[in-house]
Amino acid sequence: MDGNRVYIFDTTLRDGEQVPGCQLNTIEKIQVAKALESLGVDVIEAGFPVSSPGDFNSVVEISKAVTWPTVCALTRAVQKDIDVAAEALHHAKKKRIHTGIGTSDQHIRYKFNSNREEIIERAVRAVKYARQLVDEVEFYAEDAGRTDNEYLARVVEAVIKAGAGIVNIPDTTGYCLPGEYAAKIRYLMEHVEGIENVILSTHCHDDLGLAAANTVAGLSAGARQCEVTVNGVGERAGNTALEEVAMILRCRHDLGLQTNVNTTKISSVSRLVSGLMNMPVQANKAIVGRNAFAHSSGIHQDGVLKDSSTYEIMCPQDVGVDDNNIVLTARSGHAALKYRLEVLGISMSPERLDSFYQEFLRLADQKKQVSDDDLLVLAGAHRQETAHVRLDYLQVTSGRGLKPVASIGLDISGEKFEAAASGNGPVDAAINALKLIIRRQMTIKEFTIQNITKGSDDVGKVHMQVEHDGRIYYGFGADTDIVSASVEAYIDCINKFKN
Ligand code: KIV
Ligand code: ZN
Repeated sequence: MDGNRVYIFDTTLRDGEQVPGCQLNTIEKIQVAKALESLGVDVIEAGFPVSSPGDFNSVVEISKAVTWPTVCALTRAVQKDIDVAAEALHHAKKKRIHTGIGTSDQHIRYKFNSNREEIIERAVRAVKYARQLVDEVEFYAEDAGRTDNEYLARVVEAVIKAGAGIVNIPDTTGYCLPGEYAAKIRYLMEHVEGIENVILSTHCHDDLGLAAANTVAGLSAGARQCEVTVNGVGERAGNTALEEVAMILRCRHDLGLQTNVNTTKISSVSRLVSGLMNMPVQANKAIVGRNAFAHSSGIHQDGVLKDSSTYEIMCPQDVGVDDNNIVLTARSGHAALKYRLEVLGISMSPERLDSFYQEFLRLADQKKQVSDDDLLVLAGAHRQETAHVRLDYLQVTSGRGLKPVASIGLDISGEKFEAAASGNGPVDAAINALKLIIRRQMTIKEFTIQNITKGSDDVGKVHMQVEHDGRIYYGFGADTDIVSASVEAYIDCINKFKN
């Protein structure tokens, strides 16, 4: 093992995917997993198999789909979880079970109603059991960030003796300061017998905006694996962003640490994940935000034009931001569309590309130029093709002094329905008309409209939360017509209803 090599453990498809409204289907997860493989990540955490049949199936399919990275499955320190994880990983060329338990006093007392000694016993039992089923076992000490170092060292030593090859030290609540987190890793490096035979892993959350700083502090103190997600997606404020750690280690040679990440693929993977999860990347996000390389002040522009090193510590090309301005319009052919999709990390079968091309032309007729973001939105919308409720047409009359009226046509499993209604605005009228056809009790809980680039010809994205039968459903729609996008988002929710 090269002592300066940092292993990248990507958990976009497990910790990242826990965000409400960002769930991916198995085909999308495979697409992300393949993109992560070509990015050069070492480990892909593909899911938590016991949690749902969908997660189980995703781990099975990702195990079949990727070759080089280790595929990892999460479990609690519970025998049944471990059995199910091992079964889901059956086809993986390299497999790892990630098992663990909470070790902070808060977790021990309130979550497990247990005590420190019993937690060590459960941890050891889980690791030993997992080692009977797979060769590589990683242990996580949940809430290690708030676990006292002396006890944490006892837990880590016990699980190493039980057969764990990698030990994860999560700052589950994002509470640690960088110096503190580094000191924790250093304490373990210095006080745990057998630590030289295992890899310590960082797993930081961004609640206080310190995830990347804590991760780098942990790596500098001796950890050699970091757990990250693309764009930093994850519950609450998210996880450490993969792209930030990869570029920190690349830009700061003085740290003396290397990863296997092909950084020129960062931009396309970031766009792929953002598009599939319907999770926009903030414009000023480090490395992958739209403005990350945009210099707008006169002094900066002048300096960068004289020599880019005046204000840039890395080149846009290092992360795959290409200056290639092939403009996609209604005159663009299949080949240009296919090329651009591939740059964005989206590959399609020839049949799928044919139907996608027709949708692209429809959008290109409405907009002069189709941007990368438009394509990602379109590719996201495209997956709704199998939905049983579809919008056939929508006509809305509205304007100052007029009562908005909408007529709508729906196709429900091949049968046609029409209705018309008025409302206090065009969206309200359209939704009222739709409700006359879909006679179900449902309430909009959240409704956000967002434009994705600029200009009055832009595509608007609508995110919606609808409550039905005591459950919340998330829907998404995108269109140059914001009323249509809203209705599409509503229909997307309806298509997800469980009954
Ligand atoms: O944040 C955390 O503690 C986790 C563990 C389950 C690894 O995600
Ligand atoms: Zn986590």
